[in-house]
Amino acid sequence: MVLDAPKHYPVLLNEIISIITPQHGGTFIDCTFGQGGYTKEILKYKNTQVIALDRDIESKKKAEEIKNSFVNRFEFKNKKFSQLDNLKLKDENIRAVIFDLGYSFTQMKDPKKGLSFKAKGNLNMQMGLNEFSAEDVVNKLDATDLQKIFKFFGDEKEAKKISLKIVQQRKKEKINNKNLVEIIESTKKRKNFKIHSATKVFQALRIFVNKEISELIYGLIYATKVLKKDGVLAVVTFHSLEDKIVKYFFKSLSENKSFSRYVPEIDQPKLLFNLIEKKPITPSSKEIKENLPSRSAKLRYAIKKEDFYDFETDILKKFSSLIEIENLSNKL
Ligand SMILES: C[S@@+](CC[C@H](N)C(=O)[O-])C[C@H]1O[C@@H](n2cnc3c(N)ncnc32)[C@H](O)[C@@H]1O
Repeated sequence: MVLDAPKHYPVLLNEIISIITPQHGGTFIDCTFGQGGYTKEILKYKNTQVIALDRDIESKKKAEEIKNSFVNRFEFKNKKFSQLDNLKLKDENIRAVIFDLGYSFTQMKDPKKGLSFKAKGNLNMQMGLNEFSAEDVVNKLDATDLQKIFKFFGDEKEAKKISLKIVQQRKKEKINNKNLVEIIESTKKRKNFKIHSATKVFQALRIFVNKEISELIYGLIYATKVLKKDGVLAVVTFHSLEDKIVKYFFKSLSENKSFSRYVPEIDQPKLLFNLIEKKPITPSSKEIKENLPSRSAKLRYAIKKEDFYDFETDILKKFSSLIEIENLSNKL
């Protein structure tokens, strides 16, 4: 029997397509190309062009297949989306920028990437274009820094105990995927039957290693700049920290908090976004049945109201405490 290769399902694909409306043509930026699920669907519509980015060089193979069929309509860049600003897209007619955050199924299953405790690989967690690995983090940072990472990026209640045990254990042996899981399991007295004991610490390390907080914040800022009037910014998130950032970004740029409703509209500063739906869109029960990891996906989107390239946002200030934690990597 030939087993199917691991398959990646593009999450909320129909919902994304109905929001970005590729049937009208135009240029679309797929910031998280992955296996090309969204890109392929957009390119099915005539008069569309896609510029795709992915930090993982493994995505390039899939990108080359697509390039062969759509020579003049598709471009792939092995770049992080925080580098979107370097692509010089100021004068392009960008109709939508899409982010599908997190990891593809293929990446999760790859033992070389070591993203999951289930993959039983090395303790790597680098998605691509990184500066250090998870192994560097747990073997080099002190207990106080590890505790902050586990607490704020993983919401891990036992962050302190786990960090102290890691520092104790590494005096005897190097910390790897296997003994890290053992340390976490031995620390947790009460078992949570819904999630594995190591889930939160692994999530925290992935966020830290890939600098996911600053990636997302800069990605959102640059995506907003390059969008033209009526362009759509659509973001699929997979954990509450990501969703909190996206929610704040959209809300803060679509509401006038400081101005009274009695001030004439003409005197109020122009708002950048039109927020069509305040609540996120989530997968149907049918989609969750077919693709279980989609269950934590949340899609938020907004439409740019004006053609401003430069705009003001306090998002970096708002999440500065999380960025400070990411900057602990300067000690490595
Ligand atoms: C969930 S997958 C996207 C799947 C894609 N929508 C599809 O249908 O095939 C997320 C992808 O985003 C990439 N990625 C994550 N963070 C990134 C970043 N900061 N810059 C560029 N790519 C990133 C990952 O390498 C991964 O391939």
